[in-house]
Amino acid sequence: MLSVHIAAVRDIPDGTAKTFHINGHAIAIFHIDGTFYALDDTCSHAEASLGEGDLDADDLTIECPRHGSRFALATGQPLNLPAYEPVKTYPVQVQDGELFVEYSS
Ligand code: FES
Repeated sequence: MLSVHIAAVRDIPDGTAKTFHINGHAIAIFHIDGTFYALDDTCSHAEASLGEGDLDADDLTIECPRHGSRFALATGQPLNLPAYEPVKTYPVQVQDGELFVEYSS
């Protein structure tokens, strides 16, 4: 497990997402109300960027922009078809206003 500095907290305002690359691997960071979630950016169903999806702050889900599967931010589990496999999630640490992702490939 690698602790990777990814951005400053202020770089990802509340209610937004941003995609980063760690070792060439795309990871989307989502910010909801002071909590940060890190998920694989690529949908488990096909080629689509979850970081460009629709973020739901009430349900804590991200909706894939391509076919509409929604994924739980905390677990990466899909909540509706067509995706049926989870996307990987990563722990996020906040230290002195900076974000770190515990990355494992
Ligand atoms: S590519 Fe995400 S649901 Fe199809």
